[in-house]
Order: sequence, then C-alpha cells, then structure tokens
Amino acid sequence: MSDASVQTQTLDYQAILQSTTLRTDSFLRGFIASRQGVPTLLKESIEYSLFGPGKRVRPALALLAAQAVDGCIEDALPAAAALELIHCFSLVHDDLPAMDNDDLRRGRPTNHKIYGDAVAILAGDAMNTLAFELLAECVNDPSQSVKLLLELSRATGPAGMIGGQILDTCYPQLKHVDSQAANIESLQRIHRLKTGALIRAACRMGGVAARADAHHLQILDELGQAVGLVFQIVDDLLDVTSSDAQLGKKAGKDADIGKLTYPVLLGLEQTQAELHRQHKLAERALDQLGPAAEPLSLVVHALARRDK
Ligand code: IPE
Ligand code: IPE
Ligand code: MG
Ligand code: MG
Ligand code: MG
Repeated sequence: MSDASVQTQTLDYQAILQSTTLRTDSFLRGFIASRQGVPTLLKESIEYSLFGPGKRVRPALALLAAQAVDGCIEDALPAAAALELIHCFSLVHDDLPAMDNDDLRRGRPTNHKIYGDAVAILAGDAMNTLAFELLAECVNDPSQSVKLLLELSRATGPAGMIGGQILDTCYPQLKHVDSQAANIESLQRIHRLKTGALIRAACRMGGVAARADAHHLQILDELGQAVGLVFQIVDDLLDVTSSDAQLGKKAGKDADIGKLTYPVLLGLEQTQAELHRQHKLAERALDQLGPAAEPLSLVVHALARRDK
C-alpha cells in the first residue's frame, strides 16, 4: 500500500488490514531478527506471541491515522510496531493464572501454557522494553522519537493500560460502593485505561509520526478515545454472544470470573446503545478529516461491527 489513498475506491477494510499487517509484521520481524544476545528460549516465547494470528488493530490505526492527516505511512511504522509489542505483552500477562487465567489465545494455547509462567512473565517484560528500544532506535529524528516514547509510555504505564489492568483484575477488592451509577463510572474508567489508552495512543502516534498540527492531533485523540471504548464494548459483547472457536479465546469468561462489563451491568440492549453512541462519536471525529481518512474510516466501522 505505497499509496493507499489512491486505491481507496477499490479496497475493502480486509484488504487494508491485510496490507497494514504485512508492513507491520515485516518491520517487526526485521527488528526482532536484529537483536543480538537474546537467550533462545526467551526469543521463542516472544516470537510465539508476537507473530501469532492477531488482528493487528493498533498498528492499522496508527498507520491509517498518519495517512488520514496526509502523512506518510512509512513514517508511522516504528509507532505501529511498538504498539503491537506493548499489546502482545499485555495479552501474555493478561492470560496468566494470576490474572485472567486463560488457556486459549488467538486460537492457540496461551504463552504460559507452552512455556510456563516464568518464561511468559519474562517474555511480556521483554516485549514491553523492546517497544521503547524500537522507538529510540528506529525513529531517526530524536525529537520525534521522544514524542512517540512519551505517548507510548504514558499510554502503557500506571495511568494507562497497566493502571486499567489493575482496576480490572482487582475490582472486587477495590469496590466500595454497590450503586449502579458508581459501577458504571468504574467500568468506564477500566475500559478507558485497560484498552482505550493504547487505542487512543495508536491514533495519536500516527498523527505525531505524520507531524500533524495540534488541531488534527485533537481530532485523532477524540477518534481514539471513542474507538477505544467501541473496541472494549464489542470485546465484552462477544464474550457473551460468541464462541471459543469464533473468538480464538475462551468465551463466557467474564461472567465466570466476575468481571465488571457492560453486558453484566446493563444487559445486551443498553450495551448496544452505548456502543452505538461511541461509534457515533468516532464518526463525528472522522467527518472532520479529509478524503485521506477513508481507509481509516472503513477500518473503524469494521471494528464496531466485528465478530472476532
Ligand atoms: C484483545 O485485543 C484484548 C483487548 C484489549 C480487548 P485484540 O482483540 O486486539 O486481540 P488480537 O491482537 O486480535 O488477538
Ligand atoms: C484485556 O482485556 C485488556 C488487556 C490485555 C490490556 P480482556 O481481558 O477483556 O481481553 P481478552 O478478552 O482476554 O482478550
Ligand atoms: Mg483481562
Ligand atoms: Mg483477558
Ligand atoms: Mg475480554
């Protein structure tokens, strides 16, 4: 997709995702292959999770956000690759027995089921640090590199994804109030952090990599916030309505382990209404971008309707 905007008319979202995935994977493979001195077992465990059949949503958002503000997709590749490293780290840790205790991920045994808990923890740690090494090493302009490092570290850290994971994991212990309003507020905070922060960062980092102005960065920020919520609401819905085979991960898990989700709190109908509301907010942001945002728009709409 050297110039995806030219091909927009003929491309559907699957072709766009296939193209952004190929480019991200090729960049990631080159980066991982060029690391020296990594113990073989650790490398195997990293590669098992990093190159598994994931949807590569965050890289796609970063690359297409860069394109949407008339930037070059190529410039956003380090951001896309770094985001996927963080995402894969988060999945490996999320599946551990001490967290969601899942055996199935992307249609295959989870990392710790193959390599054991200790190796899975360390592979997650390694992907976390590799993401920042990549941004420091592969972004040529140092001021761009620092901006991207700051975006990704904030989105990943204690006030981002990791903060969300602790609220999600420890909610039963942290919960002090039982009112519906307080629970909804907690749930929105969990979604915004555990999933929303990285998706928002994907949209923002695409913009930063393309040197977007403050106005366009703000639009991408609003888009990212809405898409982050859309994405986790759909994840929660699919957990109720779909199957292990379709999802490639265990369905029906959230209720089993007492997770706070929209379907649990509000039922399916109101959850759909909230999904629709967030999708509209995403559309409003997309409408403010020009024709170069068409591929991004196609992918965002597909995410709201996804079935896996
Ligand atoms: C799953 O993310 C975890 C959430 C944040 C909901 P994805 O649905 O993007 O997982 P992969 O990368 O496609 O496996
Ligand atoms: C995962 O949320 C969020 C992160 C990995 C940061 P979930 O626990 O709902 O994701 P799945 O359903 O296991 O993919
Ligand atoms: Mg979880
Ligand atoms: Mg989980
Ligand atoms: Mg889930």
